[in-house]
Amino acid sequence: MKNQVVHVLLSTLYLASILYTVQAVNYSGTTEVQEGQPWSIICTGLKAGEKIIWTRNGQQFEELSSGDIRVFKPDKGVSELKAEHATELHEGSYKCTPSSNESLHLTVKTVTKIKVVTNTDVPMSLECDNHTAGEKVDWYLEGESVAEKFADKDELLKIDSNGVLTIYKNLLDVYGNYTCNTTANANSTKFFRIVPKPTAILREAENVVEGEKLHMVCKGHHYPGLKVMWEFAGKTYNNSDGRVKLLPDEERGINRAILSVDNIQMSDRGNVSCTVAYDWNDTPNHMNSTTATLRIKDKLAALWPFLGICAEVVVLCAIILIYEKKRNKSELEESDTDQSPDTGEIDKRTIKCIKNL
Ligand SMILES: *[C@@H]1O[C@H](CO)[C@@H](O)[C@H](O)[C@H]1NC(C)=O
Ligand SMILES: *[C@@H]1O[C@H](CO)[C@@H](O)[C@H](O)[C@H]1NC(C)=O
Ligand SMILES: *[C@@H]1O[C@H](CO)[C@@H](O)[C@H](O)[C@H]1NC(C)=O
Ligand SMILES: *[C@@H]1O[C@H](CO)[C@@H](O)[C@H](O)[C@H]1NC(C)=O
Ligand SMILES: *[C@@H]1O[C@H](CO)[C@@H](O)[C@H](O)[C@H]1NC(C)=O
Ligand SMILES: *[C@@H]1O[C@H](CO)[C@@H](O)[C@H](O)[C@H]1NC(C)=O
Ligand SMILES: *[C@@H]1O[C@H](CO)[C@@H](O)[C@H](O)[C@H]1NC(C)=O
Ligand SMILES: *[C@@H]1O[C@H](CO)[C@@H](O)[C@H](O)[C@H]1NC(C)=O
Repeated sequence: MKNQVVHVLLSTLYLASILYTVQAVNYSGTTEVQEGQPWSIICTGLKAGEKIIWTRNGQQFEELSSGDIRVFKPDKGVSELKAEHATELHEGSYKCTPSSNESLHLTVKTVTKIKVVTNTDVPMSLECDNHTAGEKVDWYLEGESVAEKFADKDELLKIDSNGVLTIYKNLLDVYGNYTCNTTANANSTKFFRIVPKPTAILREAENVVEGEKLHMVCKGHHYPGLKVMWEFAGKTYNNSDGRVKLLPDEERGINRAILSVDNIQMSDRGNVSCTVAYDWNDTPNHMNSTTATLRIKDKLAALWPFLGICAEVVVLCAIILIYEKKRNKSELEESDTDQSPDTGEIDKRTIKCIKNL
């Protein structure tokens, strides 16, 4: 008897493990890619007829509709996700089906050197890598020749005879993406992004009903490459963790600019802050931070007015009923005194009685 039980248990376990391995999909492909380079993730072990829905950090992503990321089906039970040019927004954990427990994390390494320029940072010099003295260096801003663009604005920006670019003023004109190349290294390009100091902006207060979802966006004048750190319920988050999710603001192209928390609890109330920087090792005056107050409303708070109305209706009904009963009773007593054995009268009384029931 004991043996039989053990046998049944073991075979159930065995069956369960088979089911588990059959259900599990398997990922392979790129785990780390440089910005601008191609990448691909392959998902194998899909069952026949199993729906393929690729998600990143648990959400469907818009690059699929724009064609920046595409899905291929190279074989039965296999789905491949492919992109020709990695962008920072491609970073995240990918899954090919919502039922999949595993995922593949893609890290996008940026090749762009981001430099924050403030009034105290100028003059700021940029040097093209590995250039030898006297070697010709070409600089471009958003693809336009810097030498031409700033030909008559050398009080703003100048390239010296050694090919060193110097920014003299912190003005809108100097922000942007710079590239440089040298004759010796004509096809190896160096990327710089000159940006103003980032600012973090949150709404002063957020009101959420207990059990509902919190959705907050860290706003500000931001450029791609910005890093966002959140503080929520006394804990610091650089990445999603459990029910606290840091999602990308696809519109502005900023990773982790959205804080999304499911099932808000009373204990979550208090301060929420977001801190922004392009590099956490940068000086504090190149960072910014802001705090908002999170207020949690009682789940029943929204119900109180409704319950109040219900109570009012109940009380009104009760008053009407009691009043009617009293009136009927006196009417019955009246008709009792009146001694006419009329069938019609009896019928009326019965109806009254039924009504009273
Ligand atoms: C995933 O696939 C590879 C190659 O097909 C295989 O070697 C590996 O054992 C698989 N892993 C799992 C957990 O199924
Ligand atoms: C998913 O994996 C985690 C840890 O790897 C495990 O604890 C959990 O039970 C798994 N869930 C399912 C549904 O298999
Ligand atoms: C500069 O030189 C170093 C060493 O010679 C090399 O590793 C690096 O790739 C070069 N950088 C560029 C932009 O060519
Ligand atoms: C640099 O280029 C990116 C797109 O590649 C763009 O979104 C960004 O605004 C540019 N940076 C600046 C400072 O203009
Ligand atoms: C830099 O690259 C551009 C085209 O990409 C080329 O026209 C130019 O001559 C290069 N500059 C130098 C100094 O070689
Ligand atoms: C987040 O990043 C900052 C800067 O690198 C670091 O000081 C902090 O400890 C990190 N927090 C967590 C929870 O990893
Ligand atoms: C929340 O932030 C405000 C100011 O930003 C501060 O005065 C207050 O002490 C903070 N509260 C908590 C609980 O940290
Ligand atoms: C953030 O930036 C705003 C606007 O520039 C400034 O008023 C505020 O003091 C800054 N806060 C921190 C913590 O740096």
